[in-house]
Amino acid sequence: MYDSYQGIYELAKPYLQTRYNDLHTEICYSFACRLLENEPGDQEIVLPAVICHDLGWIKLPEDLQKKAFGPKFDPDLRRIHEVEGVKLARLVLEQVGYDPNKIKEIAVIIDGHDSRTFALSDNDRIVKDADKLWRFTATGIAIDMERFGLEPSNYIPWIKEQIDSWFFTQTGKQLARNELAERA
Ligand SMILES: [Fe+2]
Ligand SMILES: [Fe+2]
Repeated sequence: MYDSYQGIYELAKPYLQTRYNDLHTEICYSFACRLLENEPGDQEIVLPAVICHDLGWIKLPEDLQKKAFGPKFDPDLRRIHEVEGVKLARLVLEQVGYDPNKIKEIAVIIDGHDSRTFALSDNDRIVKDADKLWRFTATGIAIDMERFGLEPSNYIPWIKEQIDSWFFTQTGKQLARNELAERA
């Protein structure tokens, strides 16, 4: 992780100790860096947004988290993690003295990172794609299949079919396909 974001990550970490969100965040962060190599976007918005995007899960009890995502999720519960995530992200970013205008843009991205089905900007597209690329990694697949009681023979072909509708950038689609090729 770049030094300049390490401080943000250290403050974010206590809020990531649920739902494997520490692992999820580190994986999304590395995908965000790879996306930024090929797609337009501002690292100073994208990387803090990725680090802080899921902080809000800590505010949902674990028994409710399971109802808030996955194949049969409750949209109101899922929304809570976005709204609470914005509050915690502001707290963390203000604590490191981050530029208030940048915090504003990061907050808007986090606020709709799951529920908003379209992207607002280049930065938003990268955050959304980095978040979803997790689903194609060995770690993400194993955790998600266990969560939802799914079998690889059904799950892998299903996520493969979603690539074109889930991803906003060509690089995101390519990285997802590369991951699946490694899983085969
Ligand atoms: Fe999320
Ligand atoms: Fe996420």
